[in-house]
Amino acid sequence: EKGGYDYFMLKEIAEQPKAVADTLLGRIDASGSLALDEVRIPDHVLREIDKVVIVACGTAFHAGMIAKYAIEHWTRVPCEVELASEFRYRDPILDQRTLVVAISQSGETMDTLMALRHAREQGSKVLAICNTNGSTIPRESDAVLYTHAGPEVAVASTKAFLTQVVACYLVALYLGQVRGTKWGDEILSVIRELSDISKQVEQVLETMEPVRELARSLKDKNTVLFLGRHVGYPVALEGALKLKELAYMHAEGFAAGELKHGPIALIEDDLPVVVVVPSPRGRSVLHDKIVSNIQEIRARGARTIVIAEEGDEAVVPYADHLVRVPQTPVLLQPLVATVPLQVFACELATARGNEVDQPRNLAKSVTVE
Ligand code: M6R
Repeated sequence: EKGGYDYFMLKEIAEQPKAVADTLLGRIDASGSLALDEVRIPDHVLREIDKVVIVACGTAFHAGMIAKYAIEHWTRVPCEVELASEFRYRDPILDQRTLVVAISQSGETMDTLMALRHAREQGSKVLAICNTNGSTIPRESDAVLYTHAGPEVAVASTKAFLTQVVACYLVALYLGQVRGTKWGDEILSVIRELSDISKQVEQVLETMEPVRELARSLKDKNTVLFLGRHVGYPVALEGALKLKELAYMHAEGFAAGELKHGPIALIEDDLPVVVVVPSPRGRSVLHDKIVSNIQEIRARGARTIVIAEEGDEAVVPYADHLVRVPQTPVLLQPLVATVPLQVFACELATARGNEVDQPRNLAKSVTVE
């Protein structure tokens, strides 16, 4: 059942191009419009929404963070993203004009379920993004957009994450389409690029041997840091989470701009730091800023592991290890940039002799608060 792979996690990483393609299937028509029939929330309600609040836990929360960038950029509707476990206890401000999006692979996560129940009690509409048909979260929501990742067995979420990110883009683009805001050439070109993304994920998977080799060489390290900006920030958090849960290593993700506000004090000789670099095309300010961050940490001895787009030459002088990913629009980069981090964590866990599919102390679905 592991399809010839040693672990379910490896199989699920390999299944990502298909999972992504399946999640897009039938949802974009020939003219490039989105047809999300499952989103049974009437258009007039979606037009009146004045705030989106995303609730999720763990990896799904990172997908939600990426969604915030996409939703606010494409729709200009304010979007908050909150850990489901924190949400309810803070007495959040919600009403009929709030769209709550609950993201969950299993559909059974108690914290997320309690958050959505609270939101519905306040009169908000809840849209679930879920991978498990008929599970509790979609059953209790007003609408559901299923991710079509297929069953995910490994405790560490991989293919479900990529499909959650895709589903979040679909929701963002759909809101843009229904509301007519910022619905222009950029959105159409993103939809086109999204249709190609599964091939790009495939390309990344074909070039992972050096990442595995690098992971093995770091097996005796105690700490790995991850840096990113913009949507690269949640990717950094996701890379760190994967490493914690699989390799049991101290791993932290930071927004690269925060370095000088504290974390840079952690940098010492030969400390591995993974940096997710946004595309130099498009919003190049972001790119230039992160290149300076790489220089800053390298000057202090960090061993830099740089994830950068093909053709980005500016990073080459400062990268001790360079991992190339295909060119994508800035907002879509998480779909390709997360993959090397999954492979990295899986290989490090293996090299450290850990149980890849069943990390200690963890359960696949967390059905207690
Ligand atoms: O089933 P869910 O998506 O609601 O699960 C949320 C988290 O428990 C889950 O993503 C967890 O963080 C994973 N083990 C991460 O790999």
